[in-house]
Amino acid sequence: MDSKKEPQERRKKRIAVIPGDGIGQEVIPQAVKVIQASGADVELTDFDWGADRYLRDQLTVPPDGFAMLGRDFDAILVGAFGDPRVKTNIHAKEILLGMRFKMDLYANVRPVRLLDAALCPLKGVEPKDVDFVVLRENTEGVYTDAGGVFKQGTPDEIATQEDINTRKGVERIIRYAFQYCERHTKLDGSPRNKVLMCDKSNAMTHAGGLWQRVFKEVSGEYPQIIAQHMYVDALCMQMVRDPRQFDVIVTNNMFGDIITDLAAGLQGGLGMAASGNIHPGKTSMFEPVHGSAPPIAGKNMANPFGSILTAAMMLAHLGMAKEAQKIEAAVLGAVRQKKTTQDIGGKLETTEAGEWVANQVSHP
Ligand code: NAD
Ligand code: IPM
Ligand code: MN
Repeated sequence: MDSKKEPQERRKKRIAVIPGDGIGQEVIPQAVKVIQASGADVELTDFDWGADRYLRDQLTVPPDGFAMLGRDFDAILVGAFGDPRVKTNIHAKEILLGMRFKMDLYANVRPVRLLDAALCPLKGVEPKDVDFVVLRENTEGVYTDAGGVFKQGTPDEIATQEDINTRKGVERIIRYAFQYCERHTKLDGSPRNKVLMCDKSNAMTHAGGLWQRVFKEVSGEYPQIIAQHMYVDALCMQMVRDPRQFDVIVTNNMFGDIITDLAAGLQGGLGMAASGNIHPGKTSMFEPVHGSAPPIAGKNMANPFGSILTAAMMLAHLGMAKEAQKIEAAVLGAVRQKKTTQDIGGKLETTEAGEWVANQVSHP
């Protein structure tokens, strides 16, 4: 009698790995090495989507590519897209924004955590003071590329870029924020209890008005959570003046993009920031916040920790909390012992920093 089928959650998880361009090709192999060292029961499959392939055969995403990812994989680990040889950036748009939009990964989850006081450019700020998350709407806003250029090349040229905000899109990310707040604790174990909606409704009144109305409505369903609001300009100032005040921030696509680079600065720079592009119940995609960083690409000097922490986030999402915690602890150890790349004060190369973390993960 051999009817002991593995329960769904126990099945080996299948992960698509797309390193992409520039430093993506250097940091993702380190994340993969660390995943393997953690003993996570996963099957990894590489894809060469990116600038090289596009320049070679004009293909950005193979036909049926997104359907294949959704059907055959449990998660996707991505590096970065962007190459000086592709001036239009069309491959990045079709691959990266393609995954976010066409796979409907509406919640871009960007945790902001300071691992060590030495990494923060602000005076007197300790790790416990920087522990918030930005939830960025990931499928609409100004990123839909609605708009056009008219009379191009003439003195009367006109360019429009529309900001698309749907009731459904705004409501689901705001609801996601309240649910996230309910379900997650801070690193020190204390409960999260504040959701702050960030917009520019004083100037962008139509879109902002919708966000304001929906936020008011949804926050009413969560009376135990403190609902707050800040204009995006004021929020930028507060983020560097006093990051302690933030807990869960929810905002639109573009503001989320901008404030998470700023927030990465609080963590030690772009090399440290992780993210997930999530649609609950669907195949989700995980990537560091940084891009392909052409000036440092190919030099074995990019910080792999943003990608390694992204891998931990992905494993936690797939139900492998133990492996995720081991990885996070190893990165913390590396930061404390300065076993890091030079952007955060160490002397190691990308591969050496990845190796150090992988060793720690396999022999803690
Ligand atoms: P970027 O994030 O690539 O890099 C900006 C600078 O930050 C780098 O020059 C480098 O000094 C530093 N940096 C970034 N990541 C680092 C790391 N891991 N270790 C050490 N230092 C690091 O942003 P950019 O220069 O504005 O964009 C470069 C290209 O990447 C563009 O084509 C852009 O469109 C693309 N991009 C892609 C993504 C993505 O695929 N998710 C994200 C951002 C930018
Ligand atoms: C990011 C990037 C992308 C974005 C670019 C490459 C389109 O900056 O993931 O933060 O703006 O979303
Ligand atoms: Mn960005």
